[in-house]
Amino acid sequence: MNAPDTLDELVAAAQASFAQALTPADLENAKAQFLGKSGKVTELMKGMAALSVEEKKSRGAAINLAKQAIEAALNDRRQALANAELERQLKAEALDVSLPGRQRTPGGLHPVSLTLERIEAIFGSMGFEVAQGPEIETDWFNFTALNTPEDHPARSMHDTFYVEGGTEAAPNLLRTHTSPMQIRHAVQHVKKHRALIDAGDKGEGAFTGSMPEIRVIAPGRTYRVDSDATHSPMFHQCEGLWIGENVSFKDLKFVFTNFCRTFFETDDLVLRFRPSFFPFTEPSAEIDIQFQTGPLAGRWLEVAGSGQVHPNVVRNMGLNPEKYIGFAFGMGPDRLTMLRYGVNDLRLFFDGDIRFLQQFQS
Ligand code: PHE
Repeated sequence: MNAPDTLDELVAAAQASFAQALTPADLENAKAQFLGKSGKVTELMKGMAALSVEEKKSRGAAINLAKQAIEAALNDRRQALANAELERQLKAEALDVSLPGRQRTPGGLHPVSLTLERIEAIFGSMGFEVAQGPEIETDWFNFTALNTPEDHPARSMHDTFYVEGGTEAAPNLLRTHTSPMQIRHAVQHVKKHRALIDAGDKGEGAFTGSMPEIRVIAPGRTYRVDSDATHSPMFHQCEGLWIGENVSFKDLKFVFTNFCRTFFETDDLVLRFRPSFFPFTEPSAEIDIQFQTGPLAGRWLEVAGSGQVHPNVVRNMGLNPEKYIGFAFGMGPDRLTMLRYGVNDLRLFFDGDIRFLQQFQS
C-alpha cells in the first residue's frame, strides 16, 4: 500500500523529470511515464481495485490530487519551453535598429540604351522614323530576301544560331543583323502606299501620285556565334534605310557624317568609305571614322557597313528598282558606346556589374 508521502515523492519525481526535458518531444516522453496508459499514475489507479469502498474514496482523492499536481507541473514546463523557444527566435531575428537603412538609389539607363536614345534622337531630327522587329527571324527575311540565296557564300559570313520551329527548307533563326528590317518595314510602307505607287507608275495623263520616301532606322538585338573581348553572342545593331526616287550615295555621306559629328559632339572627325561587299548592297562600303584629336586620334575605326540597296532587294520590297533607289547602313551601337566612353571590353556591357554601370548615371 502506498503511503501519502509516496504520492508526494511521485509528484516530485515527475517535476524533476519534466525539468530535465529540454525539448517538447522530451517532455511528451516524460509525460507518458507518469500520465500515459501504463504510466505510474495510471498504475496507482489500477492498484485500487482491491480496496474497500471507504478506502477507495480517500485513496482516489489523494491520487487525483497528485495527478493534478503532475498535470500542473507538465503545463508549467510546456509553457517554459515555449517561452524559451520564442526567446530564442526573437534573439535570432533580432533587429539592430541602430544599423543604417538600406538605400535605394535611383536607377538609370544602360550605356548602350543611352546610345540607342541618342541614335534615335539624331536620326529623328533628320526625319527618320524608328521601327522594331522580331529577334527570331525566318530564313527569308534574314537572308533570302536580302539577295543572299541558299548556298551563297555570304551565308557563311554569319555564324547563325538556328532555333526550333520553321521547316528544314525555311528554318527559324536568331537574326544575325538588323537588315531583315529593311524588308519588313519597306513591305509595310509599300502596302500602305500601294495606291499612290500604282498611280505614279501609270505615268502620263493619269494622276501621278508618288510614294512618300522610306526613311527609317531599326535598332535592336542581334545574335551570332561569337564571343571575345570585342564580340558578344548577343549584340546590338541599328539599321538605316532611305529609299526614294532620287536618293544617292551623296545623301548617305551627308547623313552619316552629320550623325557621327553629332553623336560624338565634335566636328574634328573625318569619315572614310572603304569599298566592301554585302549581298544586299551594290556598291558597298565600310564606314570608318577618324578622330583628329583626343585619345583615339589618327586611328581609323570601323563603325558601319553600308551601300546602295541592291535592285533585287528593292524588288523584294515590292518596288520597281528602275524607279526607286536608296541606301542602307548597319552600325554597331555597342562599338559606338565603347568609343564614346572609352570602354575597352565589350563584355563589361553585359556582365551586369553595378560598379561599371553606375559610372554612366548622371
Ligand atoms: N547587315 C550588315 C552586317 O551585319 C551591315 C549592313 C547593313 C551593310 C546595311 C550594308 C547595308 O554586317
